Amino acid sequence: MNQETPNKWTRNELKNPHRLTDKSRRVRQMFDSIAGTYDCLNHLLSFNQDRSWRKRAVQLAQIQPGQDLLDLCCGTGDMALEFINNQPALKSVTGVDFSQNMLELAQKKTNNLLAHDTGDRYKNINIKWLRQDATHLNLPDNQFHCVSCVFGLRNLQDLNAGLKEIHRVLKPKGTLLVLEFALPKNPLLNWAYQTYFRLVLPVVGGIIASDRGGAYRYLPESVRSFDTSDQFCSKLQKNDFEVVHTDPLNWGTVQLYLARKKSDIA
Ligand SMILES: C[S@@+](CC[C@H](N)C(=O)[O-])C[C@H]1O[C@@H](n2cnc3c(N)ncnc32)[C@H](O)[C@@H]1O
Repeated sequence: MNQETPNKWTRNELKNPHRLTDKSRRVRQMFDSIAGTYDCLNHLLSFNQDRSWRKRAVQLAQIQPGQDLLDLCCGTGDMALEFINNQPALKSVTGVDFSQNMLELAQKKTNNLLAHDTGDRYKNINIKWLRQDATHLNLPDNQFHCVSCVFGLRNLQDLNAGLKEIHRVLKPKGTLLVLEFALPKNPLLNWAYQTYFRLVLPVVGGIIASDRGGAYRYLPESVRSFDTSDQFCSKLQKNDFEVVHTDPLNWGTVQLYLARKKSDIA
């Protein structure tokens, strides 16, 4: 278990955390420090909606038996496990994250799932949890039929580098599935959401996660200063993905993107 103390985000840094040159290290330490309460807070702060967002995303991906799936920034494994639950005949599921403490929880959940798999539903799936940086993957080219990334891309030091890596490891015409927080376009909803995000979330997160690094102050500010949906789609296109479908969920507070790899980047 990694017990480094995370740096506390200052007000100034939170004006645009994406610009910080040590964002990656700080994000990793932050997730290591809140790993133990991450799932509980996810369900609590989203009023359990996160489960239905993942289900919706998995349904859209239409993953087929025998396919290989990569869940990037997999955290405690909920998205990868949702894929396994939806399609037990997958060939392999690989979860990648750079937080050791998040990965340990993903491994525990897998052990638990397999220990209770009395009908041998999942026995043929090769499930792996790897500690790697999403912007420098130690994985072969053209390997995966589908890559998912749920609430992860916003946290990368270099989003374009992450998209290039996803493109590289996806098979031609492979599917990229992204869930990311967004700001609602409706001004009233936007106000209500930002009030909740900025006032309620840091307090509840602070109490339950004894959030020393300020993860739940980083979250709203990193969403506010992240790409709009149009900007993100344009980055996808520049990185040679075709955006097939976008779906605003939860009154536009969460955005789902489905894209396909077009060709190899020259
Ligand atoms: C908000 S959590 C999302 C976890 C999970 N996908 C979920 O749906 O609950 C973001 C995760 O991204 C991971 N992460 C952020 N930057 C990363 C990077 N460069 N490489 C690998 N993992 C990263 C963090 O460690 C964290 O577990």
